[in-house]
Amino acid sequence: MSETISPAAVPRRTLFTGAEMPAIGFGTFGSDHAGHDVVADAVRGAVEVGYRHIDCAAVYGNEAEIGAVLRDVQTGGVAREELWITSKLWNDKHGEDDVVPACRQSLADLGLDYLDLYLVHWPFPNFHPPGCDVSSRSPDARPYLHEGFMKTWRQMEKLVETGLVRHIGTSNMTIPKLELVLRDAAVPPAVNEMELHPHFQQPELFDFVRDHGIEPVGYCPLGSPNRPERDRTPEDTNPLEDPVVREIADAHDVHPAVVCIRWAVQRGQTPIPMSTRRKNSLANLRAAIGPRLSDDEMEALAGIDRNCRMIKGQVFLWKDHQAWEDLWDMDGAITPR
Ligand SMILES: NC(=O)c1ccc[n+]([C@@H]2O[C@H](COP(=O)([O-])OP(=O)(O)OC[C@H]3O[C@@H](n4cnc5c(N)ncnc54)[C@H](OP(=O)(O)O)[C@@H]3O)[C@@H](O)[C@H]2O)c1
Repeated sequence: MSETISPAAVPRRTLFTGAEMPAIGFGTFGSDHAGHDVVADAVRGAVEVGYRHIDCAAVYGNEAEIGAVLRDVQTGGVAREELWITSKLWNDKHGEDDVVPACRQSLADLGLDYLDLYLVHWPFPNFHPPGCDVSSRSPDARPYLHEGFMKTWRQMEKLVETGLVRHIGTSNMTIPKLELVLRDAAVPPAVNEMELHPHFQQPELFDFVRDHGIEPVGYCPLGSPNRPERDRTPEDTNPLEDPVVREIADAHDVHPAVVCIRWAVQRGQTPIPMSTRRKNSLANLRAAIGPRLSDDEMEALAGIDRNCRMIKGQVFLWKDHQAWEDLWDMDGAITPR
């Protein structure tokens, strides 16, 4: 029997409802490099090695394949209550009549009767076809409109009221947008999913969400080293090649990826690394349980933030020749139309 980690040994985050979410999840975005069946097989391997938290999304196109695996693992003895399954509402389903059916579709594909967490994937109702070029713009694209977002959010709240979903959350948000949502929501977000790795630590947003009882889930925890060329810019850096990360990795005799995951869990976010290789999935999960990095190592890693966002979101811009920074409210106020 190959090595596994006991799910009971994996740390947990307690959400404002009292529910406990495993402090590491398994990502399922195959992008251009892993087909749906490859990702589904990776999920099977991940559950076998001990992951119980799976980060899914309708737009990844693989929820049906992952659903088949989730059915198998439950038949094999993993209880539904042991699993933490997240899915996400895609941008073309923000309409008031679209949210509940979109969630029901994800539930049907995943073979579940409830989700632990359902996120609004992006705060813009701006559709773009999967795999399109970063210069592509939807003619209907719009900036963030709070009134529109809250109409979507009311439907998200309905999903909680009807029991289809246990928690709702946001993704790709900024502080000014979250301030408005927190002001107006009846059910606040339990989680904010955001890019987080040693070269993009987002300290202000990280502190803001934690101060407001929202758990930060960190995507691209390794800096998404295999993302497609179209999602790269010449300024991008690679946390796995950072000399500080490498030095700490050498000292512990582990891969730099393991240092990124350990740093994330110890800092207090929930990383959701993806891997198609069981060996890497296992190494990442093992990193979540220890050993701890020293205070000096944590401090050194805090010092290598490069403010380097990998997922810039260009396809969600609403004007031609617009800078991607407009999506992220860099001045502390929501970018106007
Ligand atoms: N909310 C959002 O808008 C959003 C956006 C982006 C991503 N996400 C979520 O975040 C998840 C993670 O992001 P990501 O997949 O882009 O990037 P990532 O987890 O930072 O990096 C994944 C890549 O790292 C490699 N890797 C993983 N573990 C490794 C290890 N121990 N040693 C060496 N290499 C390792 C994998 O290659 P191998 O397969 O060869 O191991 C894989 O290609 C996604 O799958 C998705 O679920 C959410």
